Parts: sequence; structure tokens; C-alpha cells
Amino acid sequence: MRRKLIAGNWKMNGLRASAASLIQELLDGISGAEPSFELLACELLVCPPACLLETVGGLTAGTPVELGGQDCHCAEAGAHTGDISAVMLKDAGCAYVILGHSERRSDHGESDALVRAKAGAALAAGLTPIVCVGETAAERDDGRTLAVVETQLAGSLPELGPGRPPIIAYEPVWAIGSGRTPSTSEVGEVHGGVRRWLEARLGAEAAAAVRILYGGSMKPGNAAELLAVPDVDGGLIGGASLKAEDFLAIARACG
Ligand code: 13P
Repeated sequence: MRRKLIAGNWKMNGLRASAASLIQELLDGISGAEPSFELLACELLVCPPACLLETVGGLTAGTPVELGGQDCHCAEAGAHTGDISAVMLKDAGCAYVILGHSERRSDHGESDALVRAKAGAALAAGLTPIVCVGETAAERDDGRTLAVVETQLAGSLPELGPGRPPIIAYEPVWAIGSGRTPSTSEVGEVHGGVRRWLEARLGAEAAAAVRILYGGSMKPGNAAELLAVPDVDGGLIGGASLKAEDFLAIARACG
């Protein structure tokens, strides 16, 4: 059975003080202040901006809340001003890194090939990459959603070997930050399509081990129905991960 993962992508939000209070509220929420919280029906992950990793990691170390980065470079070290390597993220306490988010693909022109190189570096450093894919509104309107997603998967996923498999996040670009989501049957079609794509390449057993997250305007009000869709193995949450109450409500919806 795949354990659901509820991952918060804080994007470019937070300062040390607000990050510390958000984490404190999350920890209070899962530590007996609410005994009914069925934690650990899901795994919880926060991905703060790089400069907050130390603050957040200091508070989450030894707790069930895991730490992740939002991007990494494909080289281990060297002359890459402004970049951070997978090895550095690992050293800072991260277990995961988000890669190929549509905001990186559009703001920084990241290609599938670059995302694949980053994902390979992440695996080599002992991080689990969360590789993001998803169609634009125009691509969906053209009926090309699955084709676009499959092309991104083929180009962005690293060589899969033994060990912890990467995670895939399906994030329709038009659903991000818009308050709009695909219907549950549309989400099911894409997640089912991704699973079949994986099965054809990896075989049933290895494909069954890959978690496929949904991201894009997931909120407390729609989380339960989205998380109940077959092959939805968790959520990648933007805006709602910045409020402890909302993030915890989404995590509870896994139960
Ligand atoms: P929102 O939840 O704010 O729509 O963002 C989703 C996202 O991009 C997560 O990576």
C-alpha cells in the first residue's frame, strides 16, 4: 500500500519568524493538542524557501514533519552562482526535492532534459525527487492532456533503478493558484494514465510503488474528494500549506 504524502510547497513565501510560527502550529496540531488527529494515515512534508531550511529543519528534526527543497542544480558543486545542489539540500536535512514545477519551467525556462538531470542528481544524493508535470489550459482544451503529461514524464523522469522511486506530481498549470480544479473523473483519468504509462515501462510491481500526487488549488473543502480518487497518492499544496489549520485539515482528509 502506498502511504499518502501531503507536501507543502511554500514557494517564495515566509520569513524566519512566520516560518517558525507556522511550523510550531503544525507541530502543536499533530502532537496531542488534537488527540483525534489520525496522523500518520499520511506522511507530512514541508518545502520552504532555501534560506528557511535551517530555521524550519531545526524545528522539524525528530518530528514526523519532513523537510524538502523546491529545486536543485544538477551538479554537485561548482561555479553556479545562486544555485543549490542536491547534496547541499541533503546536508541541510532534506529528504525530498520538488523538481520541474511549472513555475520553474516558465520562470526559468527549465526543459524536460534539465529536470531529468536534476532528478538524477537528487537520487544520487539520496533525495527523493518530486517531479512535476501538467498541461496548460490550451493543451487541455485541445484534448492533449495525457499526451502532454506523457511527453513530460518521458523527458523528465530519471533512469529508474532499485531504491526509493521518484514521486510524480500532476499539477494542471491552469489549476495552480486559480481556485479551479479538474473534476474528480478528470483527475482519475490522468492519474490512471500515468500509472498505466509507468506499468508499461517498469512493470506492474515497480509502477505500483510510485506515488502520484495531485496539485493545484487543493484546499480543505475539496481535499477529501480529490484524495479519494484512485491513484491519487497525496497532494502537493501551495497556498493552503501556508496556514497550519488548512494544511492539517488536508492531511486529516487522507484518513
Ligand atoms: P496552489 O495550491 O496554491 O494552487 O499551488 C499548487 C502548487 O503549485 C503546488 O506546487
